[in-house]
Amino acid sequence: MTILSNGHLWKHSEFIENKNFSFNKNKILSSLSKKDIDDAYLSISSWEGYSPTPLIELDKLSKELNLNKIFYKDESKRFDLKSFKALGGAYAVEKVSNGNKDIVVATATAGNHGRSVAWGARRLGLKCKIFISEFVSDARGQAMADLGADVVKVKGNYEKSLIECIKQSTDNNWQIVQDVAWKDYMIVPKYTMAGYTVMMREIVDQINVNKITHIILQAGVGGMAGAMVAGIARYLDNVPTTITVEPDSAACVLESIRTGKIEKIDIKRESLMGGMSCGEVSLVPWEILKNSVKYCISLPDDDIAKTMKLLGNASFSEEKIIAGENSAPGVISLITSCEDEKIKEKIKLNKDSNVMLIGCEGDTDQKMYQKLISQ
Ligand SMILES: Cc1ncc(COP(=O)(O)O)c(C=O)c1O
Repeated sequence: MTILSNGHLWKHSEFIENKNFSFNKNKILSSLSKKDIDDAYLSISSWEGYSPTPLIELDKLSKELNLNKIFYKDESKRFDLKSFKALGGAYAVEKVSNGNKDIVVATATAGNHGRSVAWGARRLGLKCKIFISEFVSDARGQAMADLGADVVKVKGNYEKSLIECIKQSTDNNWQIVQDVAWKDYMIVPKYTMAGYTVMMREIVDQINVNKITHIILQAGVGGMAGAMVAGIARYLDNVPTTITVEPDSAACVLESIRTGKIEKIDIKRESLMGGMSCGEVSLVPWEILKNSVKYCISLPDDDIAKTMKLLGNASFSEEKIIAGENSAPGVISLITSCEDEKIKEKIKLNKDSNVMLIGCEGDTDQKMYQKLISQ
């Protein structure tokens, strides 16, 4: 019996096509410029300890799904932070500080972005204030404190922690390094996205086929997805089929693509895919994604733990992969798309397909990782 054909039905909740799809490289690069992208690569690739993260072939899975290649960009090996987020916040800290050692940087975070900011501040010897909601786990708070940040717990949710961060930063003249853009706050989120594009630059150097045909991009506020699309515009000659994947409880990109304008989701249940549980797409990514994403898919949490386990026990590849909760949805959406004949045909997944998946993170929360893979 093969890994997939054991009676298990891989689930998705919704699948939609973007009626406003029109991939325009110049337009994308007017939101995140070639210079922004190139500067980020030049800086980050010169940081101590930098090396490209592995690109792993999921050769066992591609055989089962009858696809040519499936590549998995393994961000569990990104510096010592185990997540692509290390590229964004830390780079934004470097840009904001611009060589000034006397500034204090501040951010509000659910975890990984704050770790990146704290790590970036420590790299440069800057003071760092992190605001977390009361719902952020003690382990995540401690991880940032261990990087030298002053961690402030705020009563209420993420929104409340951001309000407190803005208030205290304004009172004390601290520099806010946020990954989410709002009106009048676009430059710093752009730096974080520029940092994420390093993944695409590395991929281009690493692939051994001449064409990626499909790319599946996890989305929370859309920063990572928007950055990778900008990376496609900057580095690739062809345009792969672009697909975003989100938790069905927080599918803010899917709902916005459906109507053609930013839609806010009232999140009723927090997804296991914690970093992707976001109610509203950020402004800079939206400008990129609204015409450049071809399909959107949403998923329930049902197959997350199983997928993490299968990646972890080398069922999909020759080597074992430590994949966190936010890494699994790329794999799940590919499997469920292949198992649904209509979707498979529509998005042209076949024996010539070379699919790129982003393994966003490793065991960034080790306790949670162990709990999920032992289910
Ligand atoms: C750990 C983590 N946080 C957040 C996100 C979402 O990124 P963004 O909010 O930039 O869309 C992801 C992946 O999509 C992730 O893996």
